[in-house]
Amino acid sequence: MTSNSKTASTALEIREESIYDHPKYYDLVFGADCAAEIRFILGCGNLFLDRAPKRFFEPACGTGRLIHALAKRGYEVAGLDLNEKAIDFCNARLTRQGFNPSTYVADMSDFKTKKRYDIGFNTINSFRHLSSETAAKKHLQCMGRSIRKGGLYLLGVHLTPSEVPPSETESWSARRGHLSINTHMWTKQRDPKRRVERFGIQFDVHRPTGSFRILDELVLRSYTASQINRLIRSSGCWETIETFSFAYDLDDPIEVDGTCEDVVYVLRCIE
Ligand SMILES: C[S@@+](CC[C@H](N)C(=O)[O-])C[C@H]1O[C@@H](n2cnc3c(N)ncnc32)[C@H](O)[C@@H]1O
Repeated sequence: MTSNSKTASTALEIREESIYDHPKYYDLVFGADCAAEIRFILGCGNLFLDRAPKRFFEPACGTGRLIHALAKRGYEVAGLDLNEKAIDFCNARLTRQGFNPSTYVADMSDFKTKKRYDIGFNTINSFRHLSSETAAKKHLQCMGRSIRKGGLYLLGVHLTPSEVPPSETESWSARRGHLSINTHMWTKQRDPKRRVERFGIQFDVHRPTGSFRILDELVLRSYTASQINRLIRSSGCWETIETFSFAYDLDDPIEVDGTCEDVVYVLRCIE
């Protein structure tokens, strides 16, 4: 970092707030991978389902960037999230574009759906917000009751590798019109015994009217490959049928071992 950029960044007004309370910024920061994720979700339907999927469900859907993209392709979609601001943002966008405002506020470890869906997805680590084995298992069981037998749950999890040092920082930028956001995420603390990892995350938001930084902390439960395998088996609802990296390359499934970090589990509902 140059001394100029240091001055510029330390001069930013700092707001210690949840990134999830800023759906507009969140949606831009995490929107970049949307196309690859959608191709992957639909591709999994083609590869692993016995019939073409029609209904999709996303627990912890946030702003619904993926739900919205699927609705635009003509699919029936629904989702839930704990954050009311994210759900308001998501439903407002669906309504604005003529779709059903089909997402609602709920806890992903304690919910019921009125119908069963073909594919559930949870692609970027949201599952790790559940802080205990009980909550995580309850989530998998709720999902087991929400997806039809033979249907899929695509669960993306950043694992803690056991054979190589874990990666500690990540930075990326996103721009839409006059709004640009530089995001930086870093590890603050790892407690493998308690299975808690704390990450700092900041959005440096630049608009023509001024710049500021949103500073937040994410507390996530950690999983090694064997811990998540054990949990999936113990839920009694799911079998793992394939694993991929966050490159979302359907031609390149991966073998999960102690060096892997970003893994998408393709789970099939056996209930
Ligand atoms: C990393 S964001 C992912 C949002 C969305 N799935 C996406 O791909 O953009 C994590 C989301 O999990 C939600 N969340 C955290 N704990 C939750 C819970 N217990 N039940 C439902 N949603 C939860 C947060 O409010 C946040 O919107």
